[in-house]
Amino acid sequence: MNDMKKFNLPQLPYGENDLSPVISSNTVQLHYGKHHQAYFNMLNTLAEGTKYNDMTLEDVVVHSFNDKEQKIFNNAGQAWNHIIYWEQMKPGGENYPSGKLNSMIEDSFGGFESFKDQFIQQSVGVFGSGWCWLVQNDDKLEIMGLPNAENPLAHGKITLMGIDVWEHAYYLDYKNVRPDYVKALLEKSINWSFVADQLK
Ligand SMILES: [Fe+2]
Repeated sequence: MNDMKKFNLPQLPYGENDLSPVISSNTVQLHYGKHHQAYFNMLNTLAEGTKYNDMTLEDVVVHSFNDKEQKIFNNAGQAWNHIIYWEQMKPGGENYPSGKLNSMIEDSFGGFESFKDQFIQQSVGVFGSGWCWLVQNDDKLEIMGLPNAENPLAHGKITLMGIDVWEHAYYLDYKNVRPDYVKALLEKSINWSFVADQLK
């Protein structure tokens, strides 16, 4: 029981082995069970006794970013980022986005194949650790590569999807080949209905 803590790691929405072979159970155990948990542990320690302890996780992300409280932001950002990461996937994924999301992808990127190519390019362009995000900007979609824990929420944008490109996300399964990992997620594990539900 960790009910005493302010910020708590949500349950994984599927079993540890359910994303395999796209993401192995070894990676999920390490990434969710160790890394994601550690961001929550550190956030609880750092936020205790501060104004951040009375905020929602989303508010901690925005305020600590604006306050330039780097340590709090790094941990709150990563705690929040990984919630999106796990929630946006489902075992087996969905092959294609549909409805409004699909038309917006066509408008903004010239089609789903072209979107995937551009997303992979941008994710490769994130130097070192960071995330590649799909965001909504009014009636357009945009791909944002951001360093470390930075996310669209901190930048006042609407988050639709985010792929973790820190090495811990893919090294066990894809070694150093980041584009193969991103491509596999986009083609085999993303729950495009969830992504569409994030549209405002
Ligand atoms: Fe991660």
